[in-house]
Amino acid sequence: MDKKDIKALIAQMTLEEKAGLCSGDDFWHTKAVERLGIPRTMVSDGPHGLRKQDEKADHLGVNDSIKAVCFPAASATAASFDKEMIGRMGQAIGDSCQHEKLSVVLGPAVNIKRSPLCGRNFEYFSEDPYLTGKMAAAYINGVQSKNVGTSIKHFALNSQEHRRMSSTSDADERTIREIYFPGFEIAVKESQPWTVMCSYNRINGTFASENRWLLTDVLRNEWGFEGYVMSDWGATARRPEGIEAGMDLEMPSSYGTNDKKIVEAVKAGKLDEKLVDLCVERILNIVFRYTENAKPDTPWNMEAQHELSAAIAAECMVLLKNEDAILPLNKEDAVAFIGEFAMKPRFQGGGSSHINSFKTTSAVEAAQGLNVQYAQGYDVAKDEATDAMIAEAVQAAKAAKVAVVFAGLPDNYESEGYDRTHMRMPACQNKLIEAVAAANPNTVVVLHNGSPVEMPWINQVKGVLEAYLGGQAVGKATVQVLYGDVNPSGHLPETFPIKLQDNPSYLYYGGEGNRTEYREGVFVGYRYYDKKDMEVLFPFGFGLSYTTFEYSNLRVSKDAIQDTDTLTVTATVKNTGKRAGKTVAQLYVGGLEGDWIRPVRELKGFEKIALEPGECKDVSFTLDKRSFAIWNEQIHDWYVPGGKYEIAVGDCSRCLPLRAEIAVTSTTELPRHYDMNSIFLDIMADPKAMAVFGPYVNKLMAAFMPKDEEKSEAEKGAINDEMGMAMMKYMPLRSLISFGMGQVPPEALEQMLSALNNN
Ligand code: BGC
Repeated sequence: MDKKDIKALIAQMTLEEKAGLCSGDDFWHTKAVERLGIPRTMVSDGPHGLRKQDEKADHLGVNDSIKAVCFPAASATAASFDKEMIGRMGQAIGDSCQHEKLSVVLGPAVNIKRSPLCGRNFEYFSEDPYLTGKMAAAYINGVQSKNVGTSIKHFALNSQEHRRMSSTSDADERTIREIYFPGFEIAVKESQPWTVMCSYNRINGTFASENRWLLTDVLRNEWGFEGYVMSDWGATARRPEGIEAGMDLEMPSSYGTNDKKIVEAVKAGKLDEKLVDLCVERILNIVFRYTENAKPDTPWNMEAQHELSAAIAAECMVLLKNEDAILPLNKEDAVAFIGEFAMKPRFQGGGSSHINSFKTTSAVEAAQGLNVQYAQGYDVAKDEATDAMIAEAVQAAKAAKVAVVFAGLPDNYESEGYDRTHMRMPACQNKLIEAVAAANPNTVVVLHNGSPVEMPWINQVKGVLEAYLGGQAVGKATVQVLYGDVNPSGHLPETFPIKLQDNPSYLYYGGEGNRTEYREGVFVGYRYYDKKDMEVLFPFGFGLSYTTFEYSNLRVSKDAIQDTDTLTVTATVKNTGKRAGKTVAQLYVGGLEGDWIRPVRELKGFEKIALEPGECKDVSFTLDKRSFAIWNEQIHDWYVPGGKYEIAVGDCSRCLPLRAEIAVTSTTELPRHYDMNSIFLDIMADPKAMAVFGPYVNKLMAAFMPKDEEKSEAEKGAINDEMGMAMMKYMPLRSLISFGMGQVPPEALEQMLSALNNN
C-alpha cells in the first residue's frame, strides 16, 4: 500500500480508532481495524532468536514461549567483529520470523556497556559505540532482507537495570552524542530499522517515551528515521505527551486507558489531531510493509540453524591466554572437563531475551569419542563446591594431561531487571579453579559470562577461553576451538579491568535515588584506561589465535586533508604461522594536538580477515569527517579540531604496530566573541584577531616587561621574557587599563574590542 492509500485510510478513521491504533491490542499485537481491512500484526523478542509467546504473556521471560533456536547473545557476537556473519544470523532470524508470522523482532539491543555491573550487559554489544553501531546495522540488514522488521533498543542511555523504570540518566550533550547515540545513529543511517524501541528511563529529566528532542528532533529530523517508535514494555508515562514527542506505539496494551487520554487531549484542544494521524501513518506503513511481504510458508529448519549457531559461536570465542601453547588440545590426550557448565552450559541470559531452545549441545556431549573425563566440580543451583566435588575434580585433573574448567556466571548473577553488585565469579568456582590448577599445572579455564569478571587465579592457569554466552550450540563450538578444529578469532569488545574499582563509572554508577549522572563523560571503557595509562587485565580488541599475524606497510592516501575530504588507509596483513586463521584488523584515530579533552584514540574501522598460512592480504579503511570529529557544544554539531592526528592499525587497542601521522585542517570556524574578560592567549591564537590586536601586544609587553638593560640584578634573576610572556597570556583585556601603565586609554580599548569582534 503506498503512502497515498494509507493517508486515505486514515482519513476514514474515527478519532477513537486512530487513538486505539497507537497502542497494542495485547502483549504482543498491534490492533486491527476490521472494517477498514487493517490487520493485526505480531511482534516478539529477540534479539538472538525468537521468544514467541502465546496466551501466558510476560515481558520478563517468566512464561514459556515456542521452541526456537538460541543464537549467541550480542556480548558474544560483538566479539566476532564479523559484520558478514552477524548479517547471516540476522537472515536466519528473519526466516524464522516469516515462518512464525512475526512482523518485527524486538532487537538488537545496543546500549553501551558502561559498567561491568549492568545486569543486561550480556545483551549489549560493547563499550564502544562504533563497533556497536556497525554490528547492529549488519544484524538489522540481515533480518530486514527477509521483509520483517527489527526494533533497535533501548533508545537511549539505558546502561543500567537498577531503577530502570524511574531513574534519569543525566549526561552532557557531548557524551550523549559521542558515546550513547552513535550505536543507534549508525544503525539508523546504514540499515533503517523498521522500528525503534524507546527506553524506560528518563534522559536529563524527561522520559524517553515523551522526549521530543530524542524521538523527533534527533532520530527523525537529524538521522532520517522513517519507521515507528514503540515504547519499551510499560515505558509510557503520559500518553498525550508521548504522541507529541513522536512515540507512536504504546506497548503493551493499556486496555483503553491511554487511548481515552489521547481522545480527550485532542477534544480539549491540547493535542493536535494531525500528530495522532502521523503516528498512525507510521505504524500502518510498517504493518502493511510486513503483511504485503509475508511469507508464512518460509521453512524454518531448526537443525540447520543449530549448526549455524555453533559456527557463529566458534567465531565469537576469545582466546585470552595460551601459555606454552597449551591449546589446542591433542585429540589423543586424556583431558578432564570439570565444572557443571561443561554438562549444562550457560549459553544465554535471563529476562525478555530468554529463548526456549529446542535443543542444546554441551561440551561433554560434543566431546563424545574423545578421551574426556567429566567431573561436576560445583553445583550451580546451590552455588557451592563441596569437599567431595573438589576432591573428585582434583582427582580427574591429576589423571589428565590437561584440565579444562568450565566456569563463569550462573543465571542469577546477571539478568535483565537488576544489576550485579560486584564483578566476582562465584567463590566456589574460584576455589575449584585454584584447586584444579594446583593439582595440574596444565589448566585451562573456559568462561561463560556476559560481562567482565575478576580472575584472581589468572597466574595459576595456562589458558583462558572467553566463550561469553554462546547460544544453544556453544558446547560444540567450544570443543571445536579447544581441539583446534576452529582457530579462535574473537577479540574483546570491551576492556576487562583488573578490579571493578578501576572502571571509570565506578564512582557514579547507579546514581543517587532516581538520578544517575554519567560523570565520566566520554571516558568510557578503553577511552578511560588508555588516557590514564592504566594496567588492565585484558584490553579492548584483544584476542589470541593458534597462528600468528604480521601487520606491515601502512599507507595513507594523503598526508594532509581537509575535514571534508575522505582518507584511505591501507595495511598489509600476513599469516606468519602454520595454521589458517582470522585476524581482526582495527584502526584507531587519535588527536595529537590542541586543547580539547579527548580520548587518546578511538576505534574508527575494523575488518575481519581470513588468511591461509603464509598468505598476505591488503585491508583498506575509509575515514571521513566523523572519524576525526568531536561533538562541539558551542555549535551543537560535529567539529574537527585542526591539527595532527595519529592513525594506528593493529589487532588490539594496545597492540598497534602501524602508525602514521596526518594533518587535518578544519573547515568550520567556531564563532568567536571577545569581551573585556577575553584573555591574551585566545586572542593571540586567532590570526584575524591578531591583525587588530598585534600592536597592542607589543605596547603592553614594553610597558609590562622592562628591557633587560633596565632591570636590576634582582629583577633579572626573578623573571625573564619567557616567564613574563607565560604569565601575561592569561591576563584579560581589562587588565590593559591598569597594567598598561596608562598607555592604553579605555576608549582605545573599546574601539579595539569592537574591531576584534567585527573583522
Ligand atoms: C525489555 C525489552 C523487551 C520487552 C518485551 C522489556 O522488559 O526491556 O527489551 O523487548 O520487555 O519483552
